[in-house]
Amino acid sequence: MKLLKMKDYKELSKAACDLVADKIQSLDNPVLGLATGSTPEGLYECLIERHQAGELSFKQATTFNLDEYVGLDSTHPGSYQYYMYDKLFKHIDLPLSSAHVPSGTDENLEEHCKAYEEEIRNAGKIDIQILGIGINGHIGFNEPGTSFDSRTHVVELDASTREVNSRFFDSLDEVPYKAVTMGIQTIMDADEIILLISGENKADTVAELLQTEVSEAFPASILKEHPNFTLIVDEAAYSKVKGSS
Ligand code: PGA
Repeated sequence: MKLLKMKDYKELSKAACDLVADKIQSLDNPVLGLATGSTPEGLYECLIERHQAGELSFKQATTFNLDEYVGLDSTHPGSYQYYMYDKLFKHIDLPLSSAHVPSGTDENLEEHCKAYEEEIRNAGKIDIQILGIGINGHIGFNEPGTSFDSRTHVVELDASTREVNSRFFDSLDEVPYKAVTMGIQTIMDADEIILLISGENKADTVAELLQTEVSEAFPASILKEHPNFTLIVDEAAYSKVKGSS
């Protein structure tokens, strides 16, 4: 595991942007694994700036998102399809046909999960996977207790996840109870993984990630076994790691 300790959210976003941009520039057909949530927003802004400055093209890229809420389609502002279009896709030259976000509204979600895995396999592999983390250690929507062998599947969201994510909805009642997520094995199959963690509210999460044993009770702990894993934190997020001050 490589650890990058950055001063603040802006520097964290730039460090992630450098890694993703390098990957895009070094490959003919880069395959990117994308995440939603508040944490990657600065990274996406940076990638958009570089694209607008003429430094970065996504024309040859393919993207796969981690997850989507069951029951929400691309017109719902809380859906991750909406988020991706709004925060990244509409600003860059990625062909929309190359952008994959799991569907939360497919009639047969089990079949859809299998098909999503197949699409990733057909693309070769994910060259760089971007991740955020939940305060309970979830990656994607793989909540504590999810098997490390899991592939794309339908999950029940933890009460804590629904509550934390209710800020993206008008009320807690509107937050779906289920989601489709890439599995932990799907994530671990990526060639390179970067996990971004920012802010004081994630300080306990960073401390737990670094200090806990690898265990399904804390899904992100498996990342420590990935051969090409970079954890990018800011000072606030790192502040509760023993010996950090
Ligand atoms: P956040 O979400 O970036 O909005 O904190 C991360 C996650 O829940 O995976």
